[in-house]
Amino acid sequence: MDTIQIRGGRRLKGEVTIDGAKNAALPILLASLLTPERCTFRNVPRVVDVRTTLRLLADLGARVEDDGNGVVRIQAERLARLEAPYALVKTMRASFLALGPLLARHGRARVSTPGGCAIGSRPVNLHLDGLQKLGARVRLLHGYADAEAEQLRGARISLDFPSVGATEHLMMVATLAEGTTTIENAAREPEVVDLARALAAMGARVTGAGEDIISIEGVSALHGVEFSTIPDRIEAGTFMIAAAMTGGDVYLRGARAGHLQAVILKLREAGVEVREDPEGIRVIANGRLRSVDVKTMPYPGFPTDLQAQMLAAMALADGRSVISETIFENRFMHVLELNRMGADVKIEGNAAIIRGVAVLSGAPVMATDLRASVCLVLAGLAAEGVTEVSRVYHLDRGYVRIEEKLSALGADIRRVKESKG
Ligand code: EPZ
Repeated sequence: MDTIQIRGGRRLKGEVTIDGAKNAALPILLASLLTPERCTFRNVPRVVDVRTTLRLLADLGARVEDDGNGVVRIQAERLARLEAPYALVKTMRASFLALGPLLARHGRARVSTPGGCAIGSRPVNLHLDGLQKLGARVRLLHGYADAEAEQLRGARISLDFPSVGATEHLMMVATLAEGTTTIENAAREPEVVDLARALAAMGARVTGAGEDIISIEGVSALHGVEFSTIPDRIEAGTFMIAAAMTGGDVYLRGARAGHLQAVILKLREAGVEVREDPEGIRVIANGRLRSVDVKTMPYPGFPTDLQAQMLAAMALADGRSVISETIFENRFMHVLELNRMGADVKIEGNAAIIRGVAVLSGAPVMATDLRASVCLVLAGLAAEGVTEVSRVYHLDRGYVRIEEKLSALGADIRRVKESKG
């Protein structure tokens, strides 16, 4: 398996262009199942999770064209099957979001239920309860969710937690249900808003996305669309933290400051200069960071997907900080590896207590999920000596050519291909 090798200690400097948002693109690509017409999506990031989604769509019988440059065309006119197999869902949980669109358009669907994952148990009960409220009969059998409905009907759904996936899933289904659906305590993430924009451009009637009550008035059919996804706020945040940790000066072209306010606030508190403009964000850091406390929260709070990266930054900050993770119950797997690099972090319940150290030292490390892996890359950039991050496939699920982008900013980083034999 490939590894990423980093010789730490270089200041990141220059400009990086932010790709399209993975977590916006995945549900938007699946929304193409709601119409027989052709959909063209732009600014789709070339990450492995997108490729997995396109494989799923092709497997279902949709016509998929990927120009390799961020433009994807999908036409789900006639489908070959209404089933997403275990093999695909187990590699990527977001494929579960195919269930609702297949059901809404074809009256039945069968999708493998995702199991637990490295960051937590991640159940799908809110998705299934919501589908039932919309009139679907759902049975869980042999590891699959089997859903059927002659006619879905609008309903009032109140989520116990503002789940991003459940909000997106139910919003998609409700576009083709009869009557009005309201989703209360809805997730407000920019990716939810982007999906709502895509659905509206396909002819859906959705209002309130970005607020905690979303209303969807069902229509009888959706049509094709040309749509461009938002820039990836988590990729942008990752580069911002990388710049902060290396005393860098980096301009993030395309990053939307409006989507990153909680992160910008924390970086400023830590002593980093952040300049916002309509085309991007500039991050300028000088010297050691100050410790700050962070608590992950649903949007607009601090994103759980940047918790690991912020923790790496705090490992080298001046003082003691507490990072609380309130979204996922097991998202501190990076801590043990950071401690192997010389960090001083203790876990107490859902909080990490971090005492900043003067230096981290490079080491061979690995992680079990995407953001934990990138946190180790950031630690490697700021560490003394060589860090070798294995299980690079986690990084490729969510970052486009991360080593090339960091190298262009002056990092000493390269991908080492597995040698055969
Ligand atoms: C999305 O996952 C993102 N994935 C995650 O990105 C992100 O970490 C997460 O939202 C939170 O922001 C995609 O968009 C593809 P949730 P999702 O449903 O939708 C509980 C990354 O690194 N819950 O908001 O699965 C759940 O267990 C990742 O890119 C239920 O209890 O997240 C969790 O504790 C990983 N029942 C909390 O809600 C349900 O039915 C938040 O999950 C659904 C969720």
